[in-house]
Amino acid sequence: MAALSQLLLALLWVPVGSLTCYGDSGQPVDWFVVYKLPAQSGSGVAAQRGLRYKYLDDHSGGWRDGVGSINSSEGAVGRSLLPLYQKNASQLAFLLYNDQPPKPSKVLDSSRRGHTKGVLLLGQNGGLWIVHSVPRFPPPSSSAAYSWPPNAQLYGQTLLCVSFPLAQFPKIGRQLTYTYPLVYEHKLEGDFSEKFPELEELIKGYHVRHEPWNSSVTLTSKAGAIFQSFAKFGNFGDDLYSGWLAGALGSNLQVQFWPNSRGTLPSNCSGVYQVLDVTQIAFPGSAEPTFSATEDHSKWCVAPEGPWACVGDMNRNLAEEHRGGGIVCAQLPTLWKAFQPLVKAWEPCREESRAFSPASSGE
Ligand SMILES: *[C@@H]1O[C@H](CO)[C@@H](O)[C@H](O)[C@H]1NC(C)=O
Ligand SMILES: *[C@@H]1O[C@H](CO)[C@@H](O)[C@H](O)[C@H]1NC(C)=O
Ligand SMILES: *[C@@H]1O[C@H](CO)[C@@H](O)[C@H](O)[C@H]1NC(C)=O
Ligand SMILES: *[C@@H]1O[C@H](CO)[C@@H](O)[C@H](O)[C@H]1NC(C)=O
Repeated sequence: MAALSQLLLALLWVPVGSLTCYGDSGQPVDWFVVYKLPAQSGSGVAAQRGLRYKYLDDHSGGWRDGVGSINSSEGAVGRSLLPLYQKNASQLAFLLYNDQPPKPSKVLDSSRRGHTKGVLLLGQNGGLWIVHSVPRFPPPSSSAAYSWPPNAQLYGQTLLCVSFPLAQFPKIGRQLTYTYPLVYEHKLEGDFSEKFPELEELIKGYHVRHEPWNSSVTLTSKAGAIFQSFAKFGNFGDDLYSGWLAGALGSNLQVQFWPNSRGTLPSNCSGVYQVLDVTQIAFPGSAEPTFSATEDHSKWCVAPEGPWACVGDMNRNLAEEHRGGGIVCAQLPTLWKAFQPLVKAWEPCREESRAFSPASSGE
């Protein structure tokens, strides 16, 4: 058995120089999105409940069924994170951050840190950034192998992986000084710490100390796709979506987030653009039944009239107005076409929050 798993690892081994996101069929991809389905969704084998997912990349022709279990190191997420668990991959740097780390931190107060989750993985010729919603993920690099945490099985989750040239990481690092992540594990040695002082600072707990409390930058992926990163620090003091993103994208937004927390913000139509809370999600043309936002811990939004779609790590609630966090958006037709039809239902605006909506003000 041990020999077999050794063999498997050897077959899955990738030189770290070519570090990139890997797709569901094992090929390097520029970006992908994985939408892990809630456990209640669908029949399937009981053991697979809560471990199935939908997969999307630029060439997948829309959402596809995940090749196997989200817990498998042969799927897109497991394969992309594989270098983390290869014990002697020396030419590697990484930062793992999560406001809910795999083991609660004794030294860092996570409530002061951003409500933000992700992975930065850097090799000699490039790296990747994963923005996700998964609590206690990914497992520390000391783990025997990649695995999916049992605590994240029940609800829906989203992960966006983008492959970036190394030159983009100083910018990503600066964005993270706004989101103020709890970095629960890192490796940044030799060359890497010299080349990326921004990441070094981040690990030491540096965050922005003066206005503006938000920052938006353009990031260009390895294959040249344009992404826009939005990051805010706690002092921003407003909802990411209604207080900034809708205006910045110049668009109405339908927002999927975790609605089970306290102080959830209702749909908001008081600004120029409507920000609507998604209540039901469906994958059209698939056997997947509709599921409720209350079963879905994922965080994404879409401009119903196009062309924007975004994946992030922030909810709409009062507490998170005062936390760091952010979202990554793009105007990629494949991304928008995949997310736009997922919105099955949303919460309409209440009358009092319509006062200045475009419909009634005539703007
Ligand atoms: C996930 O994978 C790990 C390691 O491969 C295994 O020990 C565990 O039982 C798996 N969990 C599920 C729910 O399949
Ligand atoms: C990895 O480990 C193997 C054997 O354990 C060793 O032969 C090899 O030199 C190591 N590679 C690196 C890059 O450390
Ligand atoms: C709508 O959003 C704006 C910006 O976040 C906020 O100032 C305002 O209080 C919100 N209105 C309602 C009714 O929630
Ligand atoms: C910060 O957010 C405000 C909206 O609240 C926006 O007007 C401003 O342009 C943003 N600042 C930056 C630097 O993006």
